[in-house]
Order: sequence, then structure tokens, then C-alpha cells
Amino acid sequence: MNVDIGNALGTTPGLTEDTLERLDGRVADAHERITAGMVDDEFGYASLNLPETADPDAIRAAVAPFDDPHAVLTVGIGGSALGAATLAYALESDVDAYFLDNVDPDHVRALLADLPLEDVVVNVVSRSGTTAETLANFLVVREAMTDAGVDWTERTLVTTGEAGNLRRLAEDHDLPALDVPEGVPGRFSVLSTVGLAVATLQGHDIEAVLAGGRDGMDALSGSLFESPAYAYGATTYALAERGALTNAVMPYAESLETFAEWFAQLWAESLGKDGLGQTPARALGATDQHSQLQLYRAGPPDKLVTLVRPTERATTPIPETELEGLAYLGGSSLGDLLDAEFDATEASLAAAGVPNLRVEIDRVDERNLGELLYGMEAACVLYGELASVSTFTQPAVEWGKNAARGLLGGGEFAEAEAVDDKRELR
Ligand code: PA5
Repeated sequence: MNVDIGNALGTTPGLTEDTLERLDGRVADAHERITAGMVDDEFGYASLNLPETADPDAIRAAVAPFDDPHAVLTVGIGGSALGAATLAYALESDVDAYFLDNVDPDHVRALLADLPLEDVVVNVVSRSGTTAETLANFLVVREAMTDAGVDWTERTLVTTGEAGNLRRLAEDHDLPALDVPEGVPGRFSVLSTVGLAVATLQGHDIEAVLAGGRDGMDALSGSLFESPAYAYGATTYALAERGALTNAVMPYAESLETFAEWFAQLWAESLGKDGLGQTPARALGATDQHSQLQLYRAGPPDKLVTLVRPTERATTPIPETELEGLAYLGGSSLGDLLDAEFDATEASLAAAGVPNLRVEIDRVDERNLGELLYGMEAACVLYGELASVSTFTQPAVEWGKNAARGLLGGGEFAEAEAVDDKRELR
């Protein structure tokens, strides 16, 4: 992964060489803290050890009973779905991957009606084992399987923590089960069982994903000038301090569209604390050049844009044409055009003084994705250290989870009472 921060200098908001030199001392201190957390496998920091601690053999053994599935249906939400979805949508496979990460009844019904349930592996994932959306969806899926004459116990894989309802279900029915590793919050779990089981079922090389993660790990150092991940984390932090409160992440590759979604969760849920944070916006190049880019270039100067691309991509030639005025396209390729759009957006933002950062990987494959995902996690952890926020907690998310459970009668929760009080006022 390469990160170019040159276009964050002299922009509005913007940085100077001096700012970065001064910030680098703080990066060194933060790196020491991060390294200590990794050595002690502290909660959250343990995620950065996953390239070395994840166990591909255990994942392969757990999915082995599911021979040759037609599709994998993951039932999970947030960090229990987005990492696996990022890999699944980025990498091609003959095994289709679907994700039920919402409880919209129309969507659930339509998806289940379309799926050949007898050939589907249901991958139910919840670290806590108590998340209402995931468990409710799973109960609906399980019933649909039974109605279709499928023995759900033969087609279900569980990934969960040590305790919780899901763990009990796995034990009661002797289901193949994977552990969510200790110390790994959902949004940092892509390089664990949570992200890698689907990739394994889809036939991807998870050793290569982890090797990419190790590349990212080896590239961490105490200086933002030496470590691409820290260059990204430190620059985004310093820009936010100076008013870049939105970070629009714009991959120029359809295969990385879900990466932007994954990134948005990582950034928002980890860093949005104590009145601080940076709102992630999701965009896709070149599509959103024709919509959102207007705002990014000419709207309020409170943004930065992260442009992401693979430097190698398939080339689909553009046919020659007899149409007058289109001769310039013939003989070129769609890849050339997309790269030209990328360069044009970068130059246009720079010309308008809008800070933008370039993140490049060699190509969209297992190893490069592993490095990209690890690098962004490390960037996020560094940003959290610099901002002194509690990166690995999510009290606002937990509030909503408790409220939802309480409202449906799943226990006594103060959050649910607060919602009831509001409802009474309506
Ligand atoms: O990052 C997080 O902690 C959250 O997004 C969780 O992943 C999400 O709420 C799902 O939680 P669980 O895996 O416990 O069902």
C-alpha cells in the first residue's frame, strides 16, 4: 500500500511540512503505546496481531463439512458482516456471497425467496451472541430452511464469542463453530474468523490475505514518513484538527465499493467520541464525479478526499468507432479512462485547494487487500491515540442495541425506558 500525502500540504484546511515534522514526535509516542498494547494483547490492540495470531487451519476445518456450496449467506451486522463483505465483493468467486445485515422484512423475504436454500451455507456471526437483528434474522432464515425441507443443522456455521445465545445454540445442536478471538472488536475483525470464513468458503487464499496483513504490520514504524498507514492516520487526524470534518473515501474500482463502506464503519464507530471525529462519506469513482464531486471541490472547505485505486487493473479495450468526435476513445481502454478520471479528480481537487490523499495498492487481490485493510485499521488506531479517544468502544451503538432489545421485551434496559418515555409524548 502506498499513501501520498502531498496534496494535503498548502490546502484549506491544510498542513505544512513543519506541522508534519512536529506531529511526527507524537506519532513516535503513539507508536510506542500501540506496540505495548500489541505485546500485551490488550483489548483492541490485539486486532493488530491478527496477521500472526489468526489460525487458517481452524477456519478451514470448520468450513470443511460444507462441500461445494452454491452460495454463502452471512447473517450478521456491522463489524460482523462488513469485513467479510469487503473481501467477498472485491474478489471473484464461483460461490456467491449474500449478507443479511438488516431486518427490513421486504428485503429478507425477497432474498430468501430467491436463494436455493438446500445449497446455501448459512454463516451466522455475532461476537456478543446477543444482537437482536442478527438473532431475529437467523430465526427467520432457520424457519425458511425448515419449510424448504432443509436440515438447518447441516447447513449452519456459527462464529461467536465464548458466551451468549449463539454459543448456546451451537453447543445444543453440535454445529460447526468458530471463535471470535478475544480482544478483537467487531470492526477490527476482518482478519479473524469473522472475515475469513466466508473467504474460505468462496475458495480464496486466506493465507495470502494474512500475508498482506503481515506486510502492513512490518511497515509500521515510529514515523509517519516511513509508514504508509501512519502517514494516512496522522494526516487525516491533523486535517480534522484544522477543520476537515468530512473524509470522502472514493475508490476508483467497483470491486472496492464495499471497502468504502467498511472504512466508514471503522472510522465513524472508532473515532466519533467526545465531540471529536471525522465523518466518513462514501463515494465511488468515476460514478460520483458526476454527482458528489461538485460539493467536494466547491462546497464548504471542511473536507478531505481519499482517492483509492489499484495501479494494475484489467484492460477492456474501447473499440474504434466511425463516429465523428469519438475517435479519441478508440484504441484506448476502460482502465485508461478510469485512471485518467482519477488523475483528473486529484488534480482538480488540488487546484481548488481541497486536501486529498492518494492510497494505492498494486492490484485487487488477496494479499493487497489484506495489506490495505490492516493499514487502515492501524491508521485508525493511530488517529485514536493522537486524538486521545477510546477507539475500541462504541457506547452509542450499544445504547441502540440495548434499547431495541428492551423494547421487544428482551430484558430490563434503561435505554428502552428512555425510548418509551419519548413515545408517550407523541
Ligand atoms: O464494531 C462493532 O463493535 C459493532 O459494529 C458490532 O460488530 C455490531 O454491533 C455487531 O455486534 P455483534 O457481533 O456482537 O453481533
